[in-house]
Amino acid sequence: MRILVTGGTGYIGSHTVVELQKKGFEVIIVDALFNSRKESLDAIEKISGIRPQFECFDLADSTLTDDFFARHNDIKGIIHFAAHKAVGESVEQPIKYYRNNLDSLMNILDAMRKYSVQNLVFSSSCTVYGQPDAEHLPVSERAPIKKAESPYGNTKQIAEEIISESISAYKGLNAIALRYFNPVGAHDSAMLGELPLGVPNNLMPFITQTAYGIRKCLKVFGDDYPTPDGTAIRDYIHIMDLAKAHVIAVERMIGERMKNSFEIFNLGTGTGYSVLEVIKSFEKVSGVKLNYEIVGRRSGDIEKVWADPTYSNNELGWKAERCLDEMTLSAWKWEQAYRKGETCFE
Ligand code: UFG
Repeated sequence: MRILVTGGTGYIGSHTVVELQKKGFEVIIVDALFNSRKESLDAIEKISGIRPQFECFDLADSTLTDDFFARHNDIKGIIHFAAHKAVGESVEQPIKYYRNNLDSLMNILDAMRKYSVQNLVFSSSCTVYGQPDAEHLPVSERAPIKKAESPYGNTKQIAEEIISESISAYKGLNAIALRYFNPVGAHDSAMLGELPLGVPNNLMPFITQTAYGIRKCLKVFGDDYPTPDGTAIRDYIHIMDLAKAHVIAVERMIGERMKNSFEIFNLGTGTGYSVLEVIKSFEKVSGVKLNYEIVGRRSGDIEKVWADPTYSNNELGWKAERCLDEMTLSAWKWEQAYRKGETCFE
């Protein structure tokens, strides 16, 4: 059973490929390597013993995308991760984000229709909820969609609309959108993990790089939020829990167990942690005292969000199992293995 994983050399994609292979799926990856490395294929092979097929091209190119599907007529499902994802960059270069994130999706949907591929799992984000009102916290899939804070967030909202409208228009198309909360952590083997290019934007890689001495000091953005310790709250979810949910979504589609032809699920733990709680967890599991300072708020940050995962738990039969300490420890093990040259990555 062959599954196309777009963006399969990236952070979430590569972990998902390993889980798909574990369940016996044959994986073909398409990735333009804009923000990921080819060595992911070596790491995947080292973990699973199977090297996934790989093609390097940009899915925003309609001719190349059509040509790919014309050559591969046995694809049973697609997990579409490939997208630009840096919130700040999307504010500076909005057209880059709209063009890449939406053209690639539309090319895929066109090809699905033309070549009769029925099943699509789409990478969405809790960013679609913005800052939920107090009565919508924890936030469920039924909470209102807020105006996006960034072009990146807007591409996720528009993408969900494009998928929904395509499904209404074209019979036979099924999709599941997975709204991720904050994915962190690494594979248990420490052979795969998050590998940001340049200075990390996100909290966890900034923590591990600071602990390793790559960065001097972690800036904690704001301690005057209306939260118990004043720092912002997020629902961090272990990358392996997230990866497993994708496999379950694919099996649900192929096994024809969907309740509607377009389903949306939150992927979070249901527990929110503050920035200081994440730092404390990291210090506890690593034994490293982290150098950090409190600075002003980061513009565009929301104060608190965490998931109501009840619908995913009940419908998908999936539950995030790993706690915050497992997330911070696996991220730390990965950072050390990578820096010591013990992984496939240079
Ligand atoms: N933070 C710091 N210092 C840092 C980095 C982050 O204090 O150096 C704080 C942030 O202010 C925030 C929390 O840590 O309170 C988490 O920040 P991240 O950048 O790790 O994650 P975000 O919640 O901002 O963004 C993530 C993804 C986006 C996605 C968004 C959805 O990176 O792609 O969740 O809410 F859109």
